[in-house]
Amino acid sequence: MNLIKTKTEIEKYVSEKRKQKFSIGFVPTMGALHEGHASLIEYALKHHDYVIVSIFVNPTQFNNSSDLEKYPRTLDQDTSFLSTYGKSVSIYAPTPQEVYGNQVVSKQYNFKGIEHVMEGTHRPGHFDGVGTVLNHLFRQVNPDEAFFGEKDFQQLLIVKKLVEIEKLPLKITGCPIHRQKNGLAMSSRNARLTPQQLEEATFIYKILKQVKEDFETKSAKTLRAWVTTQFKNNPHLTLEYFEISNSTHLRPLSRKRTHQKYRAFIAAFAGEIRLIDNMAIN
Ligand code: PAF
Repeated sequence: MNLIKTKTEIEKYVSEKRKQKFSIGFVPTMGALHEGHASLIEYALKHHDYVIVSIFVNPTQFNNSSDLEKYPRTLDQDTSFLSTYGKSVSIYAPTPQEVYGNQVVSKQYNFKGIEHVMEGTHRPGHFDGVGTVLNHLFRQVNPDEAFFGEKDFQQLLIVKKLVEIEKLPLKITGCPIHRQKNGLAMSSRNARLTPQQLEEATFIYKILKQVKEDFETKSAKTLRAWVTTQFKNNPHLTLEYFEISNSTHLRPLSRKRTHQKYRAFIAAFAGEIRLIDNMAIN
């Protein structure tokens, strides 16, 4: 497995593979790799000859400096996690300067409203940071297709818009959420939870499942009130938001429409660790 650290090296690696007519899949990550990432990599390997996994904790997408500081950084562990894939998977682990040049700043994007709800409301500037870093990484890695988990469903829609705005020649593919046996969505942030919190956090999944079960018979207003009460009665988790939204443009549901797809979204804190999850509910 290759460990590539510079923009020049990654460009050279990809252009050599392209000359030999190989296709390139890309899995952008911030490291602390887990089975959820492995499922994205395996999906990418099924469709491409070579896969590049970027590991880069992107400073511009954190609106909270302590969250950025405490984000797990485990490059050695990540390298051995990926070593089982052999030569077909390479890591691109650049420094902020390699990605951004001298100015580590976000570009301002208009993602047509998708950026103004949920994560966008609670993490100001977050999606400008995500859009900016991916615009740089997509241009440096130049893949045929990039793979993203649906756990960050709002991010997935933002990335699809980004590719349109920046006219980038790659396909964006969303992959199903990878869950632990107890239902908890896999996330790098789970590494910061205690064993007890890991158990308590499964509450988020249980709530989403119940919302899915009740969606046909109950209104969005009733479900919102029910979820709020459930979290108020839970001493271990603090709800930041619960939303039921249209799956295409993420506008909050007011009146159900037939043929329209909806998803339920939750952001909650377990202590100081922020967790998000979502589920298709019809
Ligand atoms: O989902 C993530 O890990 C990050 O937001 C991403 C897509 C790698 C951009 O930094």
